[in-house]
Amino acid sequence: MNSANKSQPLKDPYNRRIDYLRISITDKCNLKCIYCTPSEGIKYFQEKEVLTDDEILRFVRIARKHGLRKVRITGGEPLVRNSIVKLVSSIKGIGIRDLSLTTNGILLSKLAGELKRAGLDRVNISLDSMDPDKYRAITKGGDINLVWQSIKDAEKAGLSPVKINVVPIRGVNDDEISSFAALTFEKNYHIRFIEFMPATCNGIWKKDKCVSSAEAMEKISALGELERLRFRGRGPSRNYRIKGASGVIGFISPMSDHFCGHCSRLRLTADGKIRPCLFSNIKIDIKTPMRNGATDEEIEKLFFQAVKVKPQRHQLNEDITTAAHLKAMSKIGG
Ligand code: GTP
Ligand code: 5AD
Repeated sequence: MNSANKSQPLKDPYNRRIDYLRISITDKCNLKCIYCTPSEGIKYFQEKEVLTDDEILRFVRIARKHGLRKVRITGGEPLVRNSIVKLVSSIKGIGIRDLSLTTNGILLSKLAGELKRAGLDRVNISLDSMDPDKYRAITKGGDINLVWQSIKDAEKAGLSPVKINVVPIRGVNDDEISSFAALTFEKNYHIRFIEFMPATCNGIWKKDKCVSSAEAMEKISALGELERLRFRGRGPSRNYRIKGASGVIGFISPMSDHFCGHCSRLRLTADGKIRPCLFSNIKIDIKTPMRNGATDEEIEKLFFQAVKVKPQRHQLNEDITTAAHLKAMSKIGG
């Protein structure tokens, strides 16, 4: 690891630059999506178990010293945390170049302007159906009108590009792939199709329910020629534009074409554990040491350790049991 050079991102043992942190700021969510939340419910963390704003900011400051450039705030649903605007402002103030948030959009409408002014750069909004009744069924009660309003208000506030995440599930919403893609003719949204991953929730995941990116792409190609876009960077999405459209279509393919080789991310859970990989059970506790008076150097060492033990790749495609610890994706924030 190049920990000696403090302005450069750390590199893990596989030579991947680690400069992206996804912070889950709450495990609570105001929706209960069928593939994300266990039907038996979730035992939420008690308030005292969740990292405080100061603890989150302390960790971001330490990681920033070692090249952290990109932060994504996730949940649960991050907008249910009362301090969200202040937190955004403080994280941006640490000098994070790309600060984004993944949300279900239910509460975003009235917060979009404030979040933008606080320093949020952009948002990714989860929307798995455009049919109001189907949306309500998938989310167990969500009102799609609130999400459309949020999408408009996010655009208006300049939280761009607005990215919309769709997880196509066979027999549930795979009939809407083309309609989602067609949105890019009218709007410059990024519509991203994410392959359904085995998060073991409610036994709903089956191999044949997962619609591969190749299959989604084939359906979409009936709308027009797909041009490959090269601004991929090191994110997981492979991006295209339908000829003549203004928006972008992205494919995130953790099942058929894992992107571990250029994974740049660590996750911090709401209860203060660093997870070096979504699909590994390795967790490094920073909350207990922080609360026991650890120095910044000691926390820094835990950050280095997380980078050092980051698995080379996940085993999702070969062995879905590796995801057995992922009882609720909703706790991890995707
Ligand atoms: P940008 O491209 O920077 O906008 O961010 P992103 O695509 O990383 O963020 P987003 O939260 O929208 O990620 C989209 C989805 O991709 C997530 O919700 C997950 O379902 C999936 N994903 C993100 N990161 C990982 C990862 O590290 N491993 C796996 N297997 N899937 C991931
Ligand atoms: N497979 C793919 N994506 C998932 N997400 C949650 N669970 C899964 C899964 N099993 C995504 C949601 C949302 C983000 C928070 O995580 O669709 O966009």
